Amino acid sequence: MRIYDIICNKRDGKELTKEEINYMIESYCKGKIEDYQMSAMLMAIYLNGMTDEETANLTEAMTKSGDIVDLSSIEGIKVDKHSTGGVGDKTTLIIAPIVACYGVKVAKMSGRGLGHTGGTIDKLEAIPNFKTNLDKEEFFNVINEVGFSIVAQSGNLAPADKKIYALRDVTGTVESIPLIASSIMSKKLASGSDCILLDVKVGSGAFMKDIDSSIELAKKMVAIGEHCGKKTVALITDMDIPLGKNIGNALEIKEVVEVLKGKGPQDLTNICITLSSNMLYIAGKGTLEECEKMSKEALKNGLAFEKFVQMVERQGGDTEYIKNTEKFGESKYKEDIFAQEDGYIYSMDTEEIGIASVILGVGREKKDDKIDCLAGIILDKKTGDKVNRGDKLCTIYSGDKNKLDLAKDKIIKAISIQENKSKKTNLIKASVFIDKIVKF
Ligand code: URA
Repeated sequence: MRIYDIICNKRDGKELTKEEINYMIESYCKGKIEDYQMSAMLMAIYLNGMTDEETANLTEAMTKSGDIVDLSSIEGIKVDKHSTGGVGDKTTLIIAPIVACYGVKVAKMSGRGLGHTGGTIDKLEAIPNFKTNLDKEEFFNVINEVGFSIVAQSGNLAPADKKIYALRDVTGTVESIPLIASSIMSKKLASGSDCILLDVKVGSGAFMKDIDSSIELAKKMVAIGEHCGKKTVALITDMDIPLGKNIGNALEIKEVVEVLKGKGPQDLTNICITLSSNMLYIAGKGTLEECEKMSKEALKNGLAFEKFVQMVERQGGDTEYIKNTEKFGESKYKEDIFAQEDGYIYSMDTEEIGIASVILGVGREKKDDKIDCLAGIILDKKTGDKVNRGDKLCTIYSGDKNKLDLAKDKIIKAISIQENKSKKTNLIKASVFIDKIVKF
């Protein structure tokens, strides 16, 4: 078999065989296929798609490219969660401590930023000394003691995805249903949890821009999960506006703390309550209504915040930064952006805002770029808000003064101010189960 022929087959719209997919993934992991060849293949998949069978075979090959974690030595039901990626999406850091308050275990292996979206690991690394690389024994100890742990996807968990993910990030091949489904599900299947909650984002800041493609992606992932014996549910959630107010690694940790203390923005708090309720529900902790009450209670009584502090401490992070987030300090440079006319914020091009955050230093433009952990954006106004000319829309932060101008330009273009208010939409659009779809 030659990778050249397999690339040509996909380029010409042919269906790849299981053998071709296995050969491609195995050889790429062994370094026998070059990055430029895999990039060509990814672009061919992006342009021509994959059948359900090809996607399932790709997921299986990527899952088997590394270890399959055995979580059986951790007591209790293990629930995993995965978001397809958004702007300002820090939900994992809020919902894992909430469900841990009720004995549901979360063994979370997270990723870094991808394209215009942020990554949980980059956010956690903003906390001084926080260790995102624990060995297996330590990872299990933290889960048993605290109820949850969040680590970087280890070198040997779906290593094929790790290599392909980094390549997709810089080759314009992220927004592809088979590539996203196989990337997410290979990691989830290799991670060993009993149940999986998927948060499929839809809207201008998501990889899926419309409800139909987000439901198609959700259905594919739920089918793969259930086929492999995992209870899997997907929520379709709104990403037409950044989630919460803060975008950026340290800035998002600050906002996580606000939500965990019951003082966070309403949109972020509500979405976290819905996600954690669904996690508790699939773990069998009660009806959805009961699980919602439990989630709210864990925020109100401060137990979820305590869990978060415990996890940070167990993973070596300096908890003083969590107890007093002012300690993070501020970026060297900042600039306010003001409304240039009267009206309502009609829409926000959330992908462009995500790209502006990457320019500021929140994410990487090249594979080996360093993150600026204090860089980012704090939004004062969001879609639906009334503004007068001269009102502050947001503040942008960066350690590099030159980046402010570039990002500012993008943000001004991304925020549309009009005379009329846009229609309010639900944050939760639909729930996708193996046998039904409920739209809200
Ligand atoms: N998250 C992932 O893990 N993979 C993708 O492809 C997109 C989002």
